[in-house]
Amino acid sequence: MAGTSVVEQRSDHIGVTADPSRFGLRVVDDALQMEGVPLQTIASEVGTPTYAYSAAAIETRYDSLARAVGRGPTTLCYAVKANSAQAVLQLLARRGAGADIVSGGELIRAQRAGIPADRIVFSGVGKSSDELDAAIAAGVRSINLESTEERMQVAARARAQGRVASVSLRVNPDIDPKTHPYLATGLQESKFGIGMEDALAVARAVHADPSLSLVGVGCHIGSQINDAQPFLDSIDRMRGLLETLRADGIALRQLDIGGGLGIPYGPEDPVVDLETWGRAVTEATAGFGLELVLEPGRFIVGNAGVLLTRVLLRKNGEAKRFVIVDAAMNDLLRPALYQARHVITPVRVPGADCDVEQADVVGPVCESGDFLAKDRTLPVTQTGDLLAVLSAGAYGMTMASTYNTRPQPAEVLVHGDDFDVIRPRPTVEALLEDERIPPWLA
Ligand code: LLP
Repeated sequence: MAGTSVVEQRSDHIGVTADPSRFGLRVVDDALQMEGVPLQTIASEVGTPTYAYSAAAIETRYDSLARAVGRGPTTLCYAVKANSAQAVLQLLARRGAGADIVSGGELIRAQRAGIPADRIVFSGVGKSSDELDAAIAAGVRSINLESTEERMQVAARARAQGRVASVSLRVNPDIDPKTHPYLATGLQESKFGIGMEDALAVARAVHADPSLSLVGVGCHIGSQINDAQPFLDSIDRMRGLLETLRADGIALRQLDIGGGLGIPYGPEDPVVDLETWGRAVTEATAGFGLELVLEPGRFIVGNAGVLLTRVLLRKNGEAKRFVIVDAAMNDLLRPALYQARHVITPVRVPGADCDVEQADVVGPVCESGDFLAKDRTLPVTQTGDLLAVLSAGAYGMTMASTYNTRPQPAEVLVHGDDFDVIRPRPTVEALLEDERIPPWLA
């Protein structure tokens, strides 16, 4: 099957050209640009693979979400795990964002970026004593409890410090968010949250404990959800609990509906109507008289970032054609782990009538699971061509590893007509620096 052929399936680059803004991009002189900076310039100056993020796109998405849910008191606690670059956190902190953290490391990141503790919520199904101690000492807004066992652990750590820890219950509403199975977190069989049958008892136990202060109830049902209904269903499931607590005289501060709002990964994917979504969610929660907390990650940064990669070579296998690029599963794990479909397009965008071919876009890592795209129709490319992997701003760099002793990608933040390297590509020397040879081997 050597050579190239024109295949029927439509190449994504046509849809990207039609609406580049959904991916945080523009097309200028037939080339992709982020704000005022050609992606080609970034690749030439910083090399590849490199993640590039648009400050304006991040700000626009944050602001539009804040507007959509801002009818009453609301705090957007940005899910740091989606993209935890200090510069990105600082950009969001400047707009008043809080943070949803899941580790002691993310606590340090959020605080270092200037996010006040009173706007930080701490989620996660297992938190170590050190992490709890740090969160309690910092006075975070809420430690989201996920089990009876954890209630006791937090109480013990708070008592040891002579402080009162603010906690919230993360319940598991048993809602199917109809997303990838790895991204569903609010089903009965998932490890997350406190089952609805146990929630009231845990809430009462928290209320009775002088070392704990119950500030709220919340849930997070999953990720990449493009519909309001699962959110409304989970709010409904929490209604009874909230009413019983009120009847008990337990006053809460907040209702946390988690993150999970989805983004389009392809030109034809649905786009959440933010206005409608925001109205539905705020109307469903208005009657509780509580501050609404959201934990959005992907929605804010996902389509504000791309991964730049160059074609190393082409290879015609017995059964398939491969475009081998310099980014791999260690740089962007989502295709390998979730079979996630990211649009890949040449940065110099060819016309609609260009020659296209069907190929797997793969990295150099020694794993068959190392692919960025399978059986994808895309314009014919050559060694050295620059490609952009779109929608890579969320769960890209934060899930990158150094597998195969490949340094992680560099990261840049575009701002108007300029860009800054916000994390240089580490050297291999730096990767080896912390390793030690035991004396008996030296
Ligand atoms: N809150 C909690 C408690 C979470 O566990 C998560 C994500 C979020 C908020 C933010 O969800 P988002 O708004 O970003 O959907 N690595 C996967 C996504 C895993 C999400 C884990 N939890 C991916 O690449 O799709």
